[in-house]
Amino acid sequence: MAILFHCPWDNADAWLAALQHDLPHDEFRIWPDLDGPDGDASDIDFAFVWKLPHGVLASLPNLVGIASLGAGVDALLGDPDLPRDVPITRLVDPLMTDRMAEYVTATVLHHHLGLDVYDRQGAEKQWQRNRTTDAPDRTVALFGLGQMGERCAQRLRALGFDLVGWSRTAKEISGVHCLHGAEGFEEALAAAEIAVLLLPLTAETENLMNAAAFAAMPQGAYVINCSRGEVVVNEDLIAALDSAQPNSRQPNGGHLAGATLDAFAVEPLAPDSPLWTHPKIRITPHIAALSAAATAAPILAAQVRRARDGEAMHDVVNVDGGY
Ligand code: NAP
Ligand code: GLV
Repeated sequence: MAILFHCPWDNADAWLAALQHDLPHDEFRIWPDLDGPDGDASDIDFAFVWKLPHGVLASLPNLVGIASLGAGVDALLGDPDLPRDVPITRLVDPLMTDRMAEYVTATVLHHHLGLDVYDRQGAEKQWQRNRTTDAPDRTVALFGLGQMGERCAQRLRALGFDLVGWSRTAKEISGVHCLHGAEGFEEALAAAEIAVLLLPLTAETENLMNAAAFAAMPQGAYVINCSRGEVVVNEDLIAALDSAQPNSRQPNGGHLAGATLDAFAVEPLAPDSPLWTHPKIRITPHIAALSAAATAAPILAAQVRRARDGEAMHDVVNVDGGY
């Protein structure tokens, strides 16, 4: 049997080598070269993909499994011709969750310690000590309490932060005030001095962080988006960062203090995007939790073996739910 491989990343060769190492008896077909020795693609029974063009999977009649090379499956599930009878898995790799937790912890601390403000002061050679807040007095709200959110919660709890979490279904996580559903959303927003977005992109989460959501956050809140760009309405974010505050002592003080954005609806972010130049926005190029070939390959190879043996694969996506 053969495996379809499509990886648009600049380290695709390393991914292919790692997968070939863990599946040494398989032939890999690299899109767009789908046809094997018999001149068709009917011997392809598994697919490893990231941002595969729509319609390709539907052309493979003998698939027993599809595995995403990343954690998010919004692009994959966006294929209108997705074969509905083939199980789809997303990548759950402890190294990725650790990477996300490091990114989120660093970004939370950067704002919590006021280093973003000192960056701006430093640019003007301004020696001024600002008021500090201690971790137990700072509430971080995690929107999304899945693999990524829960690991971030563990790390932030170890640092002493007050934690609120929000998910679709009810959860209990030690040290986290867990809220869920539409009824918990307002409470989570109202508590979010630092809001960390770790949600999948679905019909329910698209444009979730809009003007109303930002207005419901406390004055001076900070937003960290590690999910997908479409979860945030950029125009509303910029307006909330720029909005004049009647009692603010800062000349450009807005309702929101700042934002770090790692994911965008169109990537790479366009050079003329106003997000690049906004003084209170920090951009990172979708690096919060890159998937890693060395640790992912054995996880993905095990999924292939399960599918071929007729066992249930792990981390199967709920296609109707969107994640
Ligand atoms: P996950 O384990 O599936 O967790 C998703 C969480 O979001 C769950 O807690 C889920 O609630 C919650 N959720 C989903 N829909 C919701 C809704 N309508 N309302 C409230 N909560 C909702 O996913 P993950 O592995 O943590 O990854 C989350 C996302 O991070 C991915 O989908 C991807 O977009 C993004 N990501 C980004 C990077 C990066 O480098 N920037 C890297 C990896 C992943 P339940 O627990 O109730 O199901
Ligand atoms: C990256 O964004 C991923 O979903 O793995």
